[in-house]
Amino acid sequence: MKKIAVVLMALSLVFVSALSLADAATLDSVKAAGTLVIATSPDFPPFESMQGDGSIVGIEIDVMNAVADALGVSLTIEPVNFDSILLGVMSGSYDVGVSGFSVTEERKKNVLFTDAYCLAAQAIVVPEGSAIAAKADLEGKTVSVQSGTTAELFCLENGYTVDAYNTNSDAEMAVLSGSVDAWVIDDLTAAQMVKANNAGGGKQLVILPDAMTTEPYAFAFAFGSEDLCSAVNDVVNGMVADGTIAALFEKWDAPYTTPAAE
Ligand code: ARG
Repeated sequence: MKKIAVVLMALSLVFVSALSLADAATLDSVKAAGTLVIATSPDFPPFESMQGDGSIVGIEIDVMNAVADALGVSLTIEPVNFDSILLGVMSGSYDVGVSGFSVTEERKKNVLFTDAYCLAAQAIVVPEGSAIAAKADLEGKTVSVQSGTTAELFCLENGYTVDAYNTNSDAEMAVLSGSVDAWVIDDLTAAQMVKANNAGGGKQLVILPDAMTTEPYAFAFAFGSEDLCSAVNDVVNGMVADGTIAALFEKWDAPYTTPAAE
């Protein structure tokens, strides 16, 4: 049974790869369509989050608006569960994955990435008064994460019991309600979500000082989208070089670490 599952999985990957080459967006197809379609999980401030009126805003949305302008097309934003974005990009449903994607060797087997435009890390968040004070205290504990993220991978690799949620807000709720001991999430998003939560005056959350992992963020494309990926890369690299990206981090109240710091 296990063998069949593995074979089926391998076959479906081959199928998706074959599909993606045929259906992958190109610079020409995007220009012909007149719009760049991005898929994003808008639960990740300051990179992408959904406002009360349903609009999606953040650093990566500003970057993609600049990219669309440079390509002479409009921007179409599709909100998608984080763990479905890369498959959707690979199968040609979306032109770009825009979701604070950390570049990993595993993901590079399935998608193309632009160069990184910033560096982030994973952070541990606990309720105020928790006995967990450092990474070592997480042993044997239950942690919440967003499904399909590098946080999930990191926690599984470290042997923690993992509760995976579709959205970061649900992962945060789990630690607030006490159904898990800690929440692991990217550091800049942790800072903003914890600040917003604590300002509400309810149960307070604390970010532990342990900095874990180094995660370069980039944008993801299907194999077959090489020319589109490189055109977007040129625009983004220009924005890194001329300080536009750093200014966007400042606008969104986040400390900026250049990818070169790696
Ligand atoms: N950087 C992490 C990863 O690549 C988390 C990204 C989560 N993004 C989001 N928009 N919710 O897995």
